[in-house]
Amino acid sequence: MHLLERYTLGRLRLPNRLVMAPMTRNRAPGGVANDRMAAYYAQRASAGLIISEGTQISRVAQGYQDTPGIYTTDQRDGWRIVTDAVHAAGGRIFAQIWHVGRVSHSFYHGLTPVAPSPIPPPGKAYIPTGPLPYETPHALSVSEIQETIEQFRHAAAIARAARFDGVEIHGANGYIIDQFLRSGTNQRTDEYGGPIENRLRFLLEVTRAVMDEWEERCVGVRLSPGGTTNGAVDNDPVATFSAAFSALDRIGGLAYVHVVEAPIGTNGPDERAVCATELARSLYSGTLISTGGYAVESGEHALERRCADLIGFGRLYIANPDLAERIRVNATLNEPDRSTFYSGGDRGYVDYPSLAPAERS
Ligand SMILES: Cc1cc2nc3c(=O)[nH]c(=O)nc-3n(C[C@H](O)[C@H](O)[C@H](O)COP(=O)(O)O)c2cc1C
Repeated sequence: MHLLERYTLGRLRLPNRLVMAPMTRNRAPGGVANDRMAAYYAQRASAGLIISEGTQISRVAQGYQDTPGIYTTDQRDGWRIVTDAVHAAGGRIFAQIWHVGRVSHSFYHGLTPVAPSPIPPPGKAYIPTGPLPYETPHALSVSEIQETIEQFRHAAAIARAARFDGVEIHGANGYIIDQFLRSGTNQRTDEYGGPIENRLRFLLEVTRAVMDEWEERCVGVRLSPGGTTNGAVDNDPVATFSAAFSALDRIGGLAYVHVVEAPIGTNGPDERAVCATELARSLYSGTLISTGGYAVESGEHALERRCADLIGFGRLYIANPDLAERIRVNATLNEPDRSTFYSGGDRGYVDYPSLAPAERS
């Protein structure tokens, strides 16, 4: 089976082509990774590659309850518990570094959320005590943009000190990088807004800064050309993301591009329905991870057709810590429990069963 074939990713030898997709689980009170998280990730160490949940690069970069950070020495030490546990279990793990931009609330940090332009997201902010209207974000000045890029760089350095195997830049799902990329959320008139090459500037400067902190092929970038999560709208997403994939290809030296699979163009002027993974494959020549709605069969089929090199599984990895083994022996898969995705302590987190030895042959 292609899903169970080995793959060489930079200096890492992946035992299979399964990627545990990044998933926020809100179990880091105080913003510091902990033993419970170490147990959760170590249980999933047989994935070819684990990508951590989104981890905020600064105070104002946080948008949800009890998400972990990656900018202080305490946070570095918390992550070391996780990376050491994953490595001891034979696994490999990248940190997903994250800035939510306008998808935040002063409830979390006492600060006004920041964004490329002063446009609040649609809907309400998730707050433990009940939803609140989003605040109008502060539009970053050029010098504040430079500071934010330095925060990404610093987080990348902390990730390295925390013994991660690499970092993934979270450029997807309507968070700050996506806010800069898209015409609906970026209405700047300076060098960071307007034409596509200007809207791309923030992504590319962050990518170069993060790559400076790491060796070749240790930095991945995640993008979500399809969908409009968190109000991420664009006049012509096919054109925007074509330019983004081409620019990332020109930079060279990335570990991978990671695409959230969904049709693109449904909110574009001509309603083109372009497959995000196919678009990335046609313009980016390096390793491609595709995630989004895959079952075992459809993931296998995508590899067979060479649409992607690695397949990310999100919800299946929540419920199946030994997903690779279950695929190998064609075992039944556990069903994920949505009610414990974003809270619940050990429940729905470290208590999904792995196969018993007798079931593995
Ligand atoms: C509970 C949960 C939390 C998520 N958190 C993140 C996150 O922190 N960063 C991210 O890029 N995507 C996040 N996602 C999206 C997943 O990485 C993935 O793209 C999505 O679940 C679709 O894959 P699936 O159909 O295999 O679950 C999250 C998804 C779920 C279900």
